[in-house]
Amino acid sequence: MKPDYLPTLDLKRNYRRIRDEIHRALDEVLEEQAFILGPAVRAFESDVETYLPVPQAVGCASGSDALLLALMSCNLKTGDEVITTPFTFFATVSAITRLGAKPVFVDVDPITYNMRTDQILEKLTDRTRAVIAVHLFGQMVPLERLEAELKERGVALIEDAAQAFGSWRMDGAVPRKAGSWGDLGCFSFFPTKNLGGYGDGGMVTCQREDDAGHLKSLRVHGSGKTYYHDEVGLNSRLDTLQAAVLRVKLRHLDAWNEERRLAADRYGLLFSEAELLEEVRPPAVLEGNGHIFHQYVVRCRKRDALQAFLEAEGIASRVYYPLPLHRQRCFAFLGHEKGDFPVAESLADEVLALPIFPELAETEQERVVDVMRRFYRRG
Ligand SMILES: Cc1ncc(COP(=O)(O)O)c(C=O)c1O
Repeated sequence: MKPDYLPTLDLKRNYRRIRDEIHRALDEVLEEQAFILGPAVRAFESDVETYLPVPQAVGCASGSDALLLALMSCNLKTGDEVITTPFTFFATVSAITRLGAKPVFVDVDPITYNMRTDQILEKLTDRTRAVIAVHLFGQMVPLERLEAELKERGVALIEDAAQAFGSWRMDGAVPRKAGSWGDLGCFSFFPTKNLGGYGDGGMVTCQREDDAGHLKSLRVHGSGKTYYHDEVGLNSRLDTLQAAVLRVKLRHLDAWNEERRLAADRYGLLFSEAELLEEVRPPAVLEGNGHIFHQYVVRCRKRDALQAFLEAEGIASRVYYPLPLHRQRCFAFLGHEKGDFPVAESLADEVLALPIFPELAETEQERVVDVMRRFYRRG
């Protein structure tokens, strides 16, 4: 009998684990009928403030909006520069250009795939207003040096923690979670995220009460008092039903992140046992980092052929990201060329995300690795 198709993420299995809790939480909202910024939104913001911990959390409609709101709260102007990575999801950079500011890219580290902090410091100019540090695939950019340097220069540090809820980095002897380091932290609750809602959702975390007040005004059309507008904001609120779902899921998140970590360790072991480490490089965890494996991304030989082989054997995989952002047509006006960020460009040809989710079974991982072994050992 042919085995079932293995997706990269199976949300149905996750739902079955928490079905009753979810139904109770949704029922409460339905009984209340307060759908826009209802009590569950503030309650979830407060849960996140305690969990990270961080002084302030402001829910919004998506991770893309979180980035936009964060940059708007920095009063970004045309011509301002924002330093970030070309090897990330589109929204990190579109938020910058949408406000008329200029993205300034740095290349990424070939081991962690995260942006290189030494290059960030080299690219600072007197027009730099912010740095967006993207914690890619679930592990943090090392921020300890950057945090201090940027503070000294009055440049905002924004964390794009869309893929890193619950991820941490040691700050001396203390673990500090993603989204609690920067001036502002941005999260996505897109359903496939490791903390995902049942629809779109996002959040901005911040250190200062006045920033939180500004963000709360920006998410309701720049209005402090209904129908009076101090500035032009967005309509971008975290939906109450989503907040209720996310409150339930947050209670389980640490356990689920641990299950992801165990699955990642197991893949590493299986690749080693299958003697595939020449062909497949498992993700590396930087010393001091707590990786939550939002994605399990290997760097591999003959990537496209491997992906087709896996698919033919009923195993899904994904390429994050096939074309770095400096090479996207919509950003051609920035004047970049092939070769400008060579590490990001070679990763785009070599990375492959394999199935990973908390409920992934050991036998399924064995199947993935066995198919990969057959691919590399044939002929
Ligand atoms: C790194 C990164 N930034 C931003 C976003 C945007 O989040 P959303 O899809 O919720 O708008 C995502 C997720 O898709 C992401 O992975």
